[in-house]
Amino acid sequence: MSELRVGVVGVGIMGADHAERVARQTSGARLVAVSDPDTARAEALAARLSGTAGASGAAGFGGAPGNGPVRVINDPLELIAAADVDAVILASPGFAHAEQLFACLEHGKPVLCEKPLTMDAASALQVVEAEHKVGRQLIQVGFMRRFDPEYAELKQLLDSGELGRTLLLHNVHRNQSAPPGFRSEMIVRDSMVHEVDIARWLLDAEITQITVQAPKPSSLVDDGVRDPQLAVFQLANGTMADVEVFVNFQVGYEVRCEAVAERGSATIGLGSGVFTRADGQWGGAMPADFRVRFARAYDIEVQRWVDATVRGEIDGPTAWDGYAAAAVCEAGIESLTSGRPVDVTLADKDEVLG
Ligand SMILES: NC(=O)c1ccc[n+]([C@@H]2O[C@H](COP(=O)([O-])OP(=O)(O)OC[C@H]3O[C@@H](n4cnc5c(N)ncnc54)[C@H](O)[C@@H]3O)[C@@H](O)[C@H]2O)c1
Repeated sequence: MSELRVGVVGVGIMGADHAERVARQTSGARLVAVSDPDTARAEALAARLSGTAGASGAAGFGGAPGNGPVRVINDPLELIAAADVDAVILASPGFAHAEQLFACLEHGKPVLCEKPLTMDAASALQVVEAEHKVGRQLIQVGFMRRFDPEYAELKQLLDSGELGRTLLLHNVHRNQSAPPGFRSEMIVRDSMVHEVDIARWLLDAEITQITVQAPKPSSLVDDGVRDPQLAVFQLANGTMADVEVFVNFQVGYEVRCEAVAERGSATIGLGSGVFTRADGQWGGAMPADFRVRFARAYDIEVQRWVDATVRGEIDGPTAWDGYAAAAVCEAGIESLTSGRPVDVTLADKDEVLG
């Protein structure tokens, strides 16, 4: 396979960003097709990213040089089945993932699926089982923080044992504001899910119990929305993690993680980029957009996915990771309602994948 021909399903905020990344800056891949029920959006993106190989772009100024034409395929399942699409990026809303993942498995198409894998643990387990039946790993889940240089360095430090055994994590996850209709359970399933994956990855164990509670909500959120939320995870190896998720923080996008080990701690996400002193103030900028904070993570994630896909491999979070995260979030939503700790029940990994 000389160049991986990629199709993107769902070209809203995340999908358009990935499509652009593939068309303009990912080596060994080109964007060949996009699909979205909002056909005007898909058409506009295809026109913007279409280019002629080696030239400055068929769409003229602004086309993606060297990418070649990008076509719009209205039906996502048709895009997945298309003979000229080697691999798929799924950036449709979570509720559409299950059907589209099954189609990718049916057609043997490698897929980078944005989180969440699916909307609940039962359907996520069905995906894991269906992939296992295919006999090779085709699904990578878009937990991109694992590719963020700061998180990767933290993981390396903890795994090196230099600080002794890791005991716990403190996490903070704040957004400037959430879109209208972002309900309490979405804070768990769509936002906290990143810390669920990071805790499993950094602490190297499954989460066995989760407690999610909430203080009185911010007066700036819609009635009934429990924002911020505070969660505690217990892991199978005796470690623990906590996380504050506050999706209407007003100020900007902030993701921090402090790992506490036997002989020291390590913190990432302090945002200590350019520090200015001007106009009687000191400090740095705090962008509101997660695409700015995690730009490098997305770039590395997609480049490594392309490279691994060409080799016929997976190089990142697996369908099992997506399933485990879905199971923890489901328990987390139950805990948010009851205020009590909820045990996480996972299928036996060896039995499912054995
Ligand atoms: N990894 C991350 O940091 C990150 C960040 C943001 C979003 N996401 C995930 O990316 C996915 C998309 O989120 P978004 O923020 O881009 O949402 P969005 O609403 O901006 O875009 C979703 C797009 O999907 C289209 N769509 C709706 N139903 C569809 C279907 N059945 N098939 C194909 N397309 C369909 C919509 O028309 C829209 O253009 C979600 O799974 C979300 O959780 C991940």
